[in-house]
Amino acid sequence: MRGLKDKVVLVTGGGHGAEQAGSSLGQAMSVELAKEGAKVVVADLSLERANATVTQIRDAGGDATGVEADVVDESSVAAMVSAALDAYGRIDVLVNNAGVFGAYLPLLEIETSQWERIMDVDLKGVFLATKAVLPHMLERGSGVVINVSSASGVVASEVGAEYTTAKHGVIGLTKQIAYDYGHKGIRAVGIGPGVIKTAAFEGAEITPDFPFYDLTMQAPAGRYGEPLEVARAVVFLASDDASFIHGHTIPVDGGSPIR
Ligand SMILES: NC(=O)c1ccc[n+]([C@@H]2O[C@H](COP(=O)([O-])OP(=O)(O)OC[C@H]3O[C@@H](n4cnc5c(N)ncnc54)[C@H](O)[C@@H]3O)[C@@H](O)[C@H]2O)c1
Repeated sequence: MRGLKDKVVLVTGGGHGAEQAGSSLGQAMSVELAKEGAKVVVADLSLERANATVTQIRDAGGDATGVEADVVDESSVAAMVSAALDAYGRIDVLVNNAGVFGAYLPLLEIETSQWERIMDVDLKGVFLATKAVLPHMLERGSGVVINVSSASGVVASEVGAEYTTAKHGVIGLTKQIAYDYGHKGIRAVGIGPGVIKTAAFEGAEITPDFPFYDLTMQAPAGRYGEPLEVARAVVFLASDDASFIHGHTIPVDGGSPIR
């Protein structure tokens, strides 16, 4: 892809998978961006997970730095941006990937605290990180913001109202960032993964009891996606090859929401 060599990319939630062993989307994105020659700042709630991704990148000859950061906490986000600027002097691309899943419950069974938690991490986190990084991009007159939404950003599903609402919000926020700052050199775009085999799902049997069974198996692809398939789309969106794509969220979902 054009234009990624020596670009500095900050990926939130870029650590190596959460509860189980296996890849996360942020990890796969970080690794693929580094393979294209980008310098990657891997930010995660867990420094250990961030550093696992950093080690993987460095072992392959790439350049990366790990940072502990909570995207919900404004001071932690400010420290994350400072750490990235200290390490590499600028931020060319921000990937707002950090996110947590819904409780897979109907609305009446969702605790208010759960609603607030998902809104905080999945939506407010995107706002806070973007707000912290944009001034540096605007100072230089260029930058790319990539927001990770979901197929749940366009359809309702078993994942629950809090996640569906937050991910719909991310798509709106992406459009608004493009609207507000596109003419100032900022390119804001989104990505909408379907059900991807990350740590969150790895090992899950695809039986009719699986929450996303219908969404996954009745989609044209009829299978889980792999983290690499999302990561390569992010590499494209971050690159100059995507220079005329503004404000849109690109689906990488095996076609699941078309039914
Ligand atoms: N896996 C899927 O099927 C799928 C589908 C659609 C969208 N997504 C979205 O992709 C993103 C990544 O999902 P994943 O499957 O890789 O999840 P994951 O749980 O494997 O990884 C998420 C990472 O984000 C980090 N994180 C969580 N809260 C954070 C916070 N407050 N601050 C900083 N880091 C935090 C975790 O430590 C973890 O390393 C999320 O936004 C998710 O909603 C995933």
